Amino acid sequence: MPVEIDPFHAIAISRLAHRLRAEGRSVIHMEFGQPWTGAPAEAIEAAHRILDTDGMGYWESPALKARIAAHYGETYGVAVNPEQVILTCGASPALVLALSCLFAPGARVALARPGYVAYRNTLKALHLEPVELACGEAERFQITADAVERLEPAPQGLIVASPANPTGTIIPPEELQALAEVCKRRGIALVSDEIYHGLSYTLPAETMLKHAPDALVVNSFSKYFSMAGWRLGWLIVPEKLVDAARARMGNLFLTPPSLAQHAGLIAFDCRDELEGHIHTYARNRELLLGALPAMGLRRIAPPDGAFYIYADVGHLTNDSLAFCEALLRDTDVALAPGLDFDPVDGNSFIRLSFAVSTDLVEEAIRRIGPWFAAKAASLPR
Ligand SMILES: Cc1ncc(COP(=O)(O)O)c(C=O)c1O
Repeated sequence: MPVEIDPFHAIAISRLAHRLRAEGRSVIHMEFGQPWTGAPAEAIEAAHRILDTDGMGYWESPALKARIAAHYGETYGVAVNPEQVILTCGASPALVLALSCLFAPGARVALARPGYVAYRNTLKALHLEPVELACGEAERFQITADAVERLEPAPQGLIVASPANPTGTIIPPEELQALAEVCKRRGIALVSDEIYHGLSYTLPAETMLKHAPDALVVNSFSKYFSMAGWRLGWLIVPEKLVDAARARMGNLFLTPPSLAQHAGLIAFDCRDELEGHIHTYARNRELLLGALPAMGLRRIAPPDGAFYIYADVGHLTNDSLAFCEALLRDTDVALAPGLDFDPVDGNSFIRLSFAVSTDLVEEAIRRIGPWFAAKAASLPR
């Protein structure tokens, strides 16, 4: 029997948002973790040139693999051999490769709840068993080494994400070290999703490779590099898994888009433009962290990184999908329902993505403030 997996509810919200926009309404899209900026200008310029001269066959860019490997030395002081870099069509296929290299069907893989919707669903699609660990405000919605220590029996694997989606919280270096130690001791394979690296406002995120050299690290050009639709990412695997990962990439996906690889190599060094985006996100984060409590949304873990705020709206609803739909219809602001990230408690949460311009964040605040106030006033006391 094929396994059933849940839909991505934010897609339904986005579809409605696009329908409303087509009707002429001025919708603000804060439902997806998608930078509103395009790829860096130099990367786009190069892509135009390359399109005229390159045959765009199946191809893996040796220069991009070398650039990514060098990045680990420059940024984290960790040595990575270019052969350990598997280029993929984004973090999503990188996750599929990682899980399929590490686990046999039926393996139990632990992950944080709330967490990125695709972890749970990808595990299920690969006939693996998600073991969700409830992570609340006290743990800043992150898995701790203690929680992994207490899991009986030990799972075969653990997925960590720092900064995390939907909360943006970062696991500090000493906790990464503790997680690496408990995983090593208990024989738990580690997959670290580092897709939001480069986007941090409090402390920098550290790669899990620094603590667990055998961890499989997932990353992508979709977030920091603002190239989601180019479909380019990478997986770092330990040398013993290079052949297994390459075999899976070749058979399941062949190669990532050639044009994206050319552009990605240029994007890697467009730091000034990319850092400019972070200034915008930092400003947006401040604006929202200032405005949300005044709207009655006080239970939030301020995000250390990424571009999300996960806010408790349990005093206003027990159906986050219906809540987001009503908010969208009434205010033209699209947000993601917590249900995507947490099948147990998610109906009490919404996620706001602030990867949009500051003008739009200001406008969204103007629109949703009165709506939240009216909603609170309409509830029985
Ligand atoms: C935590 C996390 N991992 C992976 C992905 C998938 O990213 P990609 O576009 O690189 O496939 C996302 C996308 O939002 C994400 O939030």
